[in-house]
Order: sequence, then structure tokens, then C-alpha cells
Amino acid sequence: MITDFEKIDVENINNEIIEKAAGILQKGGLVAFPTETVYGLGANGLNAEACRKIYEAKGRPSDNPLILHIGDISQLKNIVLEVPEKAQKVIDAFWPGPVTIVFKKRDIVPDSVSGGLDTVAVRFPSNKVARLIINASGVPVAAPSANTSGKPSPTKAEHVLHDMKGKIDMIVDGGSCPVGLESTIIDVTGDTPALLRPGAVTKEMLESVIGEVSVDPAVYKMLSKDQKPKAPGMKYKHYSPDADVTLVVGDEKNVIDKINALCLDNSKNGFKTGVLCREKNVDKYKADYVLSAGNDIETAGARLFDILREFDALKADKVYSEVFEESGEGLAVMNRLKKAAGHKFIEA
Ligand code: TXA
Ligand code: MG
Repeated sequence: MITDFEKIDVENINNEIIEKAAGILQKGGLVAFPTETVYGLGANGLNAEACRKIYEAKGRPSDNPLILHIGDISQLKNIVLEVPEKAQKVIDAFWPGPVTIVFKKRDIVPDSVSGGLDTVAVRFPSNKVARLIINASGVPVAAPSANTSGKPSPTKAEHVLHDMKGKIDMIVDGGSCPVGLESTIIDVTGDTPALLRPGAVTKEMLESVIGEVSVDPAVYKMLSKDQKPKAPGMKYKHYSPDADVTLVVGDEKNVIDKINALCLDNSKNGFKTGVLCREKNVDKYKADYVLSAGNDIETAGARLFDILREFDALKADKVYSEVFEESGEGLAVMNRLKKAAGHKFIEA
């Protein structure tokens, strides 16, 4: 398959590109498009066969359900049975934007979207190109992150091209995704709202509009074989670059000394080392490659997946990362970093 790659100017939208993307979706094809979080790999979300193609292109386990994306709030009632009061509050406060809500689904939503669950995850993205494509297609669009299953989610069109070239019909390049981490997922179908995946809409932000929010244990740690996370995707290995990633915890000076000692060992053994750190520490590391996560947690979130992919491109053998505080967006950054590291920590 030849993958059509089209650059779109967000300030001056070329409607032909939007119509072409929508036409492919209508015919049951696959289109990758930008959102404010990460690039999505879209298919007609009401067409079971089109959705099955998504699993094939990504190499995704078939029990991992997809998020349905809407381009207008009026589409919601067609796919969900009810909108609980707390869901409405989340919608009013944060939609369109980087939060996904789990609802009881209508029968029209195919099993290949819901993974056989009686719920469906719905997201209303704020990204203009995403909304134009969804609305032009006239259907809700099922879209996981547009990466090969297990690899870091794509935050640039080049990342999508790297993973999906020849496997999908079209990639719409709308530039870098500003958030850079997948959407927050909140489940409001039970008594207490549950945070299933942390993102840029933080637990604290959600609690300010709906009160107490519980956090699914899979957000913090690796679950044992008999435990089931509520978002099936949270159990899979994820975000792993080819390099072996380790998180280093401790006082800042000790962390820097520890990592530098490891770098020295690695270079003696012929291994290339990468370090992911705060901007202010870049000059303190003696690694082959030192990549900056910026000065604040939002920048760290925006850069994380790009940095992990960059270490692959540089062919780093071992990567060490500083850690971040698990509050606000730091909960999401640490959730992805822990998964990238396979939950491997060392104390400095
Ligand atoms: O930001 C995002 O959400 C991106 C962009 C493209 O919108 N999409 C995304 O999709 O991250 P994906 O498929 O990579 O992650 C979807 C997650 C998975 O962990 C899946 O298990 C969970 O959502 N999920 C989907 N439907 C669910 C449901 N009904 N109940 C609980 N979790 C669900
Ligand atoms: Mg994903």
C-alpha cells in the first residue's frame, strides 16, 4: 500500500486534504491525523471491518478497546446510553480537550471498538484539523495512538511515517502535538469516578469539578498477572524504545554522580549511553547523548515520546532518566516513564 503524506497548514486549511481524508474514512480506510495529545490512527468507528484494520496496522492485541472521537458534541448521544451528571461536569469543564470519558455504550458501537466491554471511551479533541476531518467524515472516528503497538506514541507526523508507512492509506501532517501525552481517561460509570490513565487534565483538575477521584492501581505500578486494570491497554508493555531504560531516584547531586559513574562503566564496555534530564542539568552529565526535558513538567510531557524515539535514532544502548514529582501532570509523565523503563529503578 502507498501511504499518502499530506502537510496541512493549520493557519490556512486546505479543504481538499480534509475531504480526501474524510473520503478514505468513509470508504473504510485508515488515516493518521494530529490531535492536541498525540497522532491518532483513525477509522470509521461504526464500521467493524475498518476498525479491525487498525489492530492489524498497529499489531495491537484485539482485547484492547479503541477510543471513539467526535467532532461535535451532538454526536455523543448517538453512541452512549446516558450522560451521568459527573460526566456532564467534566464535559462542561474540559471538552473539547485532552480528556476521554468512559460511558455505557449503545449497540451501534461495534465490538471491535469496545473490545467486548459494555462501555465505550469517547473523546472530543480540541485540535482543529482533527475536528474538521471527523466532521467531514460524518461518523465517530475510532483512533488509537498511531504508533506500532508497544512503541512510544507519535507526537510528530514523522513518527507516524516511521511506524506506519505502507500500512495505512494516509497521514495528515499538522505539526507537533502540543500536549505530547495521550488523553486522561476518566470512568464515571461507577459510584466514585476513576482515573484510568493520567494526562494533561490532571486528577487535581478533575477533582475541582467532580469531587473525589480514585486512581486505578495500574497508574502507579505494574500489576501482577491476576490483576486487571480497568483500561485494558494499561496492562501492556508500552512506550519502550530499543534502549534499556532505567529511572534513577535520589538527591539531585547523588543522581548526577551515579549516572555519570554508570556512563563511564558503559563506555568502557562499549555501550552508548543516553540521559534524559531537566534543562538545568544538561551540562552536568557525561553521557554520549543528553536530551533535555525542559524546565517544567508540561514541557517534559510534550517532549517525552520524541526524546524516547530520538534515543532509538541515535542507537543508544542504555538510557538513564531523572524522575519527576507524581503530582499534577507529573503523574502522567511518570506513568509513561515507568512503563518505558519496565518499572526499573535504581537508588542513587
Ligand atoms: O490522546 C489520546 O487518547 C489518543 C489520541 C489519538 O486521541 N488516543 C489513544 O488511544 O491514546 P489508545 O488506543 O492508544 O489508548 C486508548 C486507551 C487504552 O488503554 C484502552 O485500553 C483504553 O483507552 N480504553 C478504550 N476503551 C475503553 C473502555 N471502554 N473502558 C476502559 N478503557 C478503555
Ligand atoms: Mg496507544
